[in-house]
Amino acid sequence: MLTKTPPSLSDGTRIDDLIHLQTREVQLRVLADPELHRLEMDRIFSQTWLFLGVANEIPNPGDFMVRSMGDDQVIVTRSRDGEVNVLLNVCPHRGMRVCTTEAGNTPVHKCIYHGWAFRPNGDFIGSPVEKEQMHGHILPKSELGLRRARVKVYGTLIFATWNLEGPSFDDFLGDMKFYYDMLFCRSDGGLEALGPPQKFTLHANWKTAGEQSACDGFHTLTLHRWLGDFAKFGDGDLTTSMYGTEVSANGHSMRCPPVAQKFKKLGLEDKSIEEKLELLPPPGVTKEMLPELKRRLSPEQLHLLVESPPQVGGIFPNLMVAFIYVPQPDGTVVGVTSLHAYVPRGPDKVEFTNWFLAERDVSMEMKQKSLQIGIRMLGTSGQIEQDDSDTWPHMSRNARGPQGRLSTMKYQAVCDQPPRPDWPGPGHVYEGFTKDDTQWNWWLKWHELMSATI
Ligand code: FES
Ligand code: FE
Repeated sequence: MLTKTPPSLSDGTRIDDLIHLQTREVQLRVLADPELHRLEMDRIFSQTWLFLGVANEIPNPGDFMVRSMGDDQVIVTRSRDGEVNVLLNVCPHRGMRVCTTEAGNTPVHKCIYHGWAFRPNGDFIGSPVEKEQMHGHILPKSELGLRRARVKVYGTLIFATWNLEGPSFDDFLGDMKFYYDMLFCRSDGGLEALGPPQKFTLHANWKTAGEQSACDGFHTLTLHRWLGDFAKFGDGDLTTSMYGTEVSANGHSMRCPPVAQKFKKLGLEDKSIEEKLELLPPPGVTKEMLPELKRRLSPEQLHLLVESPPQVGGIFPNLMVAFIYVPQPDGTVVGVTSLHAYVPRGPDKVEFTNWFLAERDVSMEMKQKSLQIGIRMLGTSGQIEQDDSDTWPHMSRNARGPQGRLSTMKYQAVCDQPPRPDWPGPGHVYEGFTKDDTQWNWWLKWHELMSATI
């Protein structure tokens, strides 16, 4: 239940004081404040849908993995009926962690403290010494199970939320569903994780990475300059790759750069959609899979996939999405698919969790190549992520200074181009050179949720 009174911090600062809607500025203080962190846990991480993993990480009944929804730890399980469950990893008896390992398989989750036992769907089985009823008679067994979150398996991606009565997953994606369906629901076999995620912890606030995922294009030109200088992306001039279309809705966003310019040698310009798909299938797709794409996607989505496919962006609040083409020295093009979840570990730490994915039905050779190149570029020690993860701790550190915290982050580069008349997709559409609009929309979503009182 939301009321109309926005929360305030203990020094009297209101959320509205931290984000300046007229001038599109956000006070740096938001990157370090412990009070704001607690509010974010209640108002964002307990309210929105959050990405937790990929279905093939727990393929069999009894499989489980431990993940986080903000500060809460959860057990993601596969029960006997094949369903995916997301259970709070807090024993209803006295609050012990029920699952103390990272992942595994078990038909029963037994708490190591006093022995209460639970099924993979969270149901309470019983406590030791059955005839003595050590769990008492006051509450029925049906009320002693592990707390269950609401779950959505989207394509093969597992999302969950504690907001049991809140928006459906489709409403959460809103207009962006049109674009994400092109990536996550394009094939019959679906995407699979190529192994467990990589993880590393940074001394940074999660929002430094979260807002960058909302299509920060500017930083590519400077922070990732080597992509042009050494890797010869854009034939050495990265500026050209910053033109295109950016789309956003509900705080989510994707960059959709045109491909014909980038792959001039393929001569895509005058070709039909069919021919373009054959010449340059979307990242991670083989020619054999094209009939599946054509069956599952609308003509408008196919049109975009060959002209300006969604390649990088994010799902609010903390997921980075990358479906990128990586040209190889031998003239071939390898598709790399990666998801990064930026999991808060307090106001000044973030766990960078990184999955590589591939279509289930492509060859092992293609999966291995994609994984190898993906790790090199977007892995936790990859060339691109080393650049990004260097800046986030500095910004978070500055936000702790008594003067630095008063500084602002500015999002004042505003798109002034009308959307392309032939753009077939929904959402806010920004045309031309990359600007700050999609990131500002990310902050507007943050502001909306943080201003609500639960
Ligand atoms: Fe889990 Fe007591 S805390 S059984
Ligand atoms: Fe980057």
